[in-house]
Amino acid sequence: MSNYQKAIFNETTNTFNVTEFTITDWSNVQVLKGSIKKALEKTSNDIDIVVSFGKKLWETLNPAIKPAQLKDFATLQGKNGYSMPATQADLYFRIIGNDTALVLDQTIHIQEAVAKVAEVAISENGFIYKDHRDLTGFVDGSANPKEEKKYPAALIADGEIGAGGSYVFHQKWIHNLAKFNELPQAVQEKIIGRTKPDSIELEGDDMPKDSHVSRTDAKHDGVAMKIWRRSFPYGNAKERGLFFISYACDPFRVDIQLDRMLGNTEDGVSDQIMNYSEAVTGGYSFAPSVEDLTTALQ
Ligand code: HEM
Repeated sequence: MSNYQKAIFNETTNTFNVTEFTITDWSNVQVLKGSIKKALEKTSNDIDIVVSFGKKLWETLNPAIKPAQLKDFATLQGKNGYSMPATQADLYFRIIGNDTALVLDQTIHIQEAVAKVAEVAISENGFIYKDHRDLTGFVDGSANPKEEKKYPAALIADGEIGAGGSYVFHQKWIHNLAKFNELPQAVQEKIIGRTKPDSIELEGDDMPKDSHVSRTDAKHDGVAMKIWRRSFPYGNAKERGLFFISYACDPFRVDIQLDRMLGNTEDGVSDQIMNYSEAVTGGYSFAPSVEDLTTALQ
């Protein structure tokens, strides 16, 4: 497998930031490249970074390598009244570590390094909540592909254009926790499709077809649409939710899951989770392999 960005698969960090930028000055590509190179200089060895690019920026930096499925995210309207807005940005950073101070130092370094050419669209901090739960209290990540299986799920296969790269999806969700928390645990479990204390998948008649797991555990032409998720919870007294992050070998896998959540597939069933949580941002980007990144920034 090509030399992918290692931070995509890091599972040992517990404090995070995602910052997304829109480019404000496209006039000088070398200045853009220099700014991004500077941003990627690490302020500490104890943090790691995934960098990814919206379609327009990637094609500006590296027109020779065009990943076949790279596209902007477009707003999705669901048949049952739900929607998912697009807030497509150009330049994406996911900064991860085990010391919030160091993650903040890197976040500020990145922002300052690109300040002349880009402005911040979104910057969100997150953390590991208890034993890897989202703020609904359910464990998040249980069905992520294990061991070697995560690589083909997340990375463009060898031999394809952009091999070792990954199609990234970011989507910020705001929870209505008051509404969710007043439900009995058994009802919450039917919404997610897993038990709350120990994250065991519901089976047979116990698993509703409008549970979150039923909607996202999708197959297409017999192939399981597995993706690699690295979402994190965020929260404070004003707002709380999940910053959804996924890496996929093909964004079609994510599209299918979103359509199934929205009720835009043949069965017309939407995801119960959308009664308790609202998507407020959404954007696709491309996290190139280390080789393609190096070429792009030359
Ligand atoms: C409010 C937003 C969301 C919350 C709170 C949430 C939470 C969860 C939880 C608790 C699980 C069960 C445990 C696990 O396997 O991780 C799960 C599974 C999953 N979620 Fe989400 N999720 C959200 C949004 C999304 C979105 C937007 C997608 C797709 C783009 C997605 C894709 C998946 C997938 C693929 C699974 C595993 C399904 C399986 O194969 O069993 N989730 N999520």
